[in-house]
Amino acid sequence: MNVLGIETSCDDSSAAVVVDGRTVRSCVTSSQDSFHRRFGGVVPEIASRAHMEAIDVVCADALEQAGLTPAQIDAVAVTNGPGLVGSLLVGVGFAKGFAYTRGLPFLGVNHLEGHIAAAFLDSEAPTFPFVALVVSGGHSHLYEVVDFFRMRLLGQTVDDAAGEAFDKAAKLLGLGFPGGPAIDRAAQQGDPAACRLPRPMLHSDDLAMSFSGLKTAIRRLIEDAGGLAGLSTPDLAASFQAAVVDVLVGKALAALERTGIPRLVICGGVSANRRLREQAAAACNRRGMALTVPAPAYCTDNAAMIAAAGYRRLAAGERSALTLNGYASLAEAPR
Ligand code: KG4
Ligand code: ZN
Repeated sequence: MNVLGIETSCDDSSAAVVVDGRTVRSCVTSSQDSFHRRFGGVVPEIASRAHMEAIDVVCADALEQAGLTPAQIDAVAVTNGPGLVGSLLVGVGFAKGFAYTRGLPFLGVNHLEGHIAAAFLDSEAPTFPFVALVVSGGHSHLYEVVDFFRMRLLGQTVDDAAGEAFDKAAKLLGLGFPGGPAIDRAAQQGDPAACRLPRPMLHSDDLAMSFSGLKTAIRRLIEDAGGLAGLSTPDLAASFQAAVVDVLVGKALAALERTGIPRLVICGGVSANRRLREQAAAACNRRGMALTVPAPAYCTDNAAMIAAAGYRRLAAGERSALTLNGYASLAEAPR
């Protein structure tokens, strides 16, 4: 089944063609970073307008790169939440039009399910059940994933998401937007042990996480030094990154222990982080646990993961009606 996936939940306009939820024939993503950079974050109104301009181009490119005509597409999957409503509606509207005019089945997909389905793209697929650590700009969640359709929330951040913490820390460090990749890059030249930073909730007796205190700790370090001038930005970036990664890996290991499941998947934009990938691999290796992290291009928002998640449900007969809407939180969506 050739599924056209469409993702416009935040600031990336992406379209992809994926065969049977595994083989990526094409994945075209148009980043809006240059539009949002001067505002230091994603401006929702700008994001939806940029999606409007990009959506037909990325879809046409995805078909062309896949070497397929629209007539060779079997179904359409589109993110319909959670995300920025104005952004979501651009993808949902386009998907409806594409599917309706060609009489194709189409389906709204949960963005988080998409991030988890990225683990099944191209590489060796993880075995169910597994523990998934979903770390992105909006989420730091641990799930027990039973199969493609069932997952149980084990724990989540009580304040900022990990990606949000990266973005806010990068702003304080003057590293610009988007912050995660900037900290990852700066940290390459820094010493992760240079600044003493807390590991919030690492030893709390649960699977909750907290990242806003780390951002405050960075702000204090800068204030105490009388500004950034006297500090090493690479050292601060490396120390901050090490603290976040210690907490994420520690909590993921605690979830594996609690559930007794020896398989971990890490996904979402933050899973592109080099230190997180290295530390998680080393920790799982030591314990004989299996680890799957998608290729970096499938960690950050992309439409291939949406096509992969949509495929499983479409193959099981699920369909969305043409009344499908976009939702900031899928808890608001009618069932
Ligand atoms: O999954 P994603 O692309 O969008 C959301 O669903 O939110 O995640 C974006 C987040 C941003 O906060 C970004 O700074 C972070 O992922 N991110 C990273 C890296 N690449 C992206 N964080 C740390 N290291 C990276 N290399
Ligand atoms: Zn995402």
